[in-house]
Amino acid sequence: MNRKDVFDLTDRIVVVTGALGQIGRQFALELIDRGARVAIFNRRIPDEAVLRERFPVDTGRVIFCPVDITKKASVKAGLEQVVAKWGVPHVLVNNAGLDTQPSAPPEVSGPFEEFPEDVWREVLEVNMTGTFLCCQVIGGAMAREGRGSVINIGSIYGMLSPVQDIYAYKAEKTGTPFVKPVAYCASKSGLYNFTRYLATYWGRKGVRVNILTPSGVRRDTQDKEFQTNYCQRMPMGRMAEEDEFNGALVFLASDASRYMTGSNLVVDGGWTAW
Ligand SMILES: NC(=O)c1ccc[n+]([C@@H]2O[C@H](COP(=O)([O-])OP(=O)(O)OC[C@H]3O[C@@H](n4cnc5c(N)ncnc54)[C@H](O)[C@@H]3O)[C@@H](O)[C@H]2O)c1
Repeated sequence: MNRKDVFDLTDRIVVVTGALGQIGRQFALELIDRGARVAIFNRRIPDEAVLRERFPVDTGRVIFCPVDITKKASVKAGLEQVVAKWGVPHVLVNNAGLDTQPSAPPEVSGPFEEFPEDVWREVLEVNMTGTFLCCQVIGGAMAREGRGSVINIGSIYGMLSPVQDIYAYKAEKTGTPFVKPVAYCASKSGLYNFTRYLATYWGRKGVRVNILTPSGVRRDTQDKEFQTNYCQRMPMGRMAEEDEFNGALVFLASDASRYMTGSNLVVDGGWTAW
C-alpha cells in the first residue's frame, strides 16, 4: 500500500529563530535532514567558516538572515529575504529566547525585590515581544496564504514556578545566593495564552499555532551540583539531550498534527507530572 508519510516535510519552508543556539540548531539540522528549506533568523550571524562547521548541510537548503526579532523592520527584512529566495514560509518556529544560567552574575540573579527593571524589560522584549512580532509579520504572511504552522517554544518554567532549592548550592559554594529570575518565567508563561489567542484568531485561516514545552537540557558547562539537583527532581532521573525535542517539532510542523491547534506539547522527562 502506498501510504502518504504524514510527517513529510520535503520542501517546506521553515523559519527558525535563534537557530544558532543549542536547541534551535538541532531543530534546523533535523528539518534540513528531512528535506525542508530552513531560514535561520539570528541576531548575530558568524562568519562563513563557523557556519559551515556548525551546519554541514546542503547549502541550497539553508539561509542565514541577520534578524533582531525585537525589531519589526528587521523581521520584515528577514521575511523579504526568505520570500525572494523560496516563497512564503509554511512553518515558523519561535525559538529565540533569553534565559539566565546559574553562572549569571549576582546583579541579574539576586532576590526578586532587587531584580533590575531593565533586565526584566530586556527578557520580555525578546521572549514575548520578539515572538509577537514574528507572528505578526511571518504568521500574518502565512495567514494570507491560508496555511501554516506556528510553533512557539515555551518552558517548564513558564508552566510552573522554578524549584529554587535546586540552586541553593550556589550560596554555599560562592557565598552569593542564586535565585532563578522572575523575568524568564513570566515571559515564557505569557506565551501559553498568546498561543491559544492566535490559535483561535487564525483557526479558520489555516494557520495552526501550538507551543512546545521543553525542560532543561544538559550542557557540559553546567555545575555538577546543578545537574545532580535537577536530575533528583526529574522523574526520568536525567536532563534532556539537545536533540530530544526534534520529534515533537517534526510532529507540530508536519501534517501529522493537522487537527491540532492551541495545544501545549510537553516534552519534559515528567517534570510537570508531579
Ligand atoms: N536549553 C534549555 O534547557 C531550555 C529549556 C526549556 C526551554 N528552552 C527554550 O528553548 C529555546 C532555545 O533555548 P537554547 O537553550 O537553545 O537557547 P540559546 O541561548 O542556546 O540560543 C538562543 C538563540 O537566540 C538568539 N537570540 C537571542 N535574542 C535574539 C534576538 N533578539 N533576535 C534574534 N535572535 C536572538 C541567540 O543569539 C541564540 O542564538 C529558548 O526559547 C529557551 O527559552 C530551553
